[in-house]
Amino acid sequence: MSAAETKQKKWTLLELLNWTAEYLAKKGFEDARLNVERLLGYTLGLSRIQLYTNFDRPLLPDEISAFKALLQRRLTHEPLQYILGETEFYSLAFKISTDVLIPRPETEVLVEHIVETCTHSFAKEEEIFILDVGTGSGCIAVALAKNVANAVVTAIDCSPGALSVAQGNASAHDVEIKFHELDALKPWPMEFLNTFDLLVSNPPYISYSEYQTLQPEIRLFEPKTSLLGGNDGLEFYRKFSNICSTLLKPQGFVFFEIGERQAVSVRNIFADAGFSGFQVYDDLNGRNRVVKMQWSRSKE
Ligand SMILES: C[S@@+](CC[C@H](N)C(=O)[O-])C[C@H]1O[C@@H](n2cnc3c(N)ncnc32)[C@H](O)[C@@H]1O
Repeated sequence: MSAAETKQKKWTLLELLNWTAEYLAKKGFEDARLNVERLLGYTLGLSRIQLYTNFDRPLLPDEISAFKALLQRRLTHEPLQYILGETEFYSLAFKISTDVLIPRPETEVLVEHIVETCTHSFAKEEEIFILDVGTGSGCIAVALAKNVANAVVTAIDCSPGALSVAQGNASAHDVEIKFHELDALKPWPMEFLNTFDLLVSNPPYISYSEYQTLQPEIRLFEPKTSLLGGNDGLEFYRKFSNICSTLLKPQGFVFFEIGERQAVSVRNIFADAGFSGFQVYDDLNGRNRVVKMQWSRSKE
């Protein structure tokens, strides 16, 4: 079909869906049909099921223009989640913007193991003081506050934009989380010292060389401060390793998300800083993505 014919054509929902899905697929986009369904559903205010039951519905010119504007954004490789302004994490809806990293499935694995530790290593009536370092959208902090009844959650980030997104998500899910704008690698205020039973972080851990190879969706749109961990990706862990123990109570737990080849290096960095009891967990693809450890050195 020529460009002029495409413009003049009176489209039904199914015709536009099929045509655009084929167009996106030819341009090399993965999950082309799913992308188009989400964008069209968003434009028309229809769920996926409603789309399927309205295949014959003719589309108005305004609806087509609005859909085209979203499609143009996707064609620049802007991630679907930023266009829709939301995503799902741990079965909860999260608002997101380009100020925050899009929550990932491997981070759900991190949350799952923390929930398990909270259930098995603490008494039900005991308050568990949890610190989320680099909270971004607040996905980890909110998921923990929702799923660990006795959790008292504090979350920090150095990005004011991220904190405002995280605060919005905490309010939307009706959980109380104390948020602070702080640089985790600078000296922490006294009130945080020796305070936490469990510290979690999904820090920036991508090396410069790996960053260059990432898909445009990530490189062009996601915040660099969320991703880049220096020359070898380990800079945050290295700098944070000695600070980390000052925030914990004795025997406090630490959970980190890591890059798939970083388990040994992260273990060595934190063993040098006095941590022990290392455990490594895999994501659903069998890759090492989560480390758990404990602060074991007694404090003078
Ligand atoms: C990989 S993102 C993780 C976001 C979110 N926790 C998640 O799992 O989706 C890392 C976050 O750490 C924050 N960050 C990076 N360096 C930091 C620092 N030195 N101090 C505090 N936050 C930092 C970034 O702003 C970003 O929000």
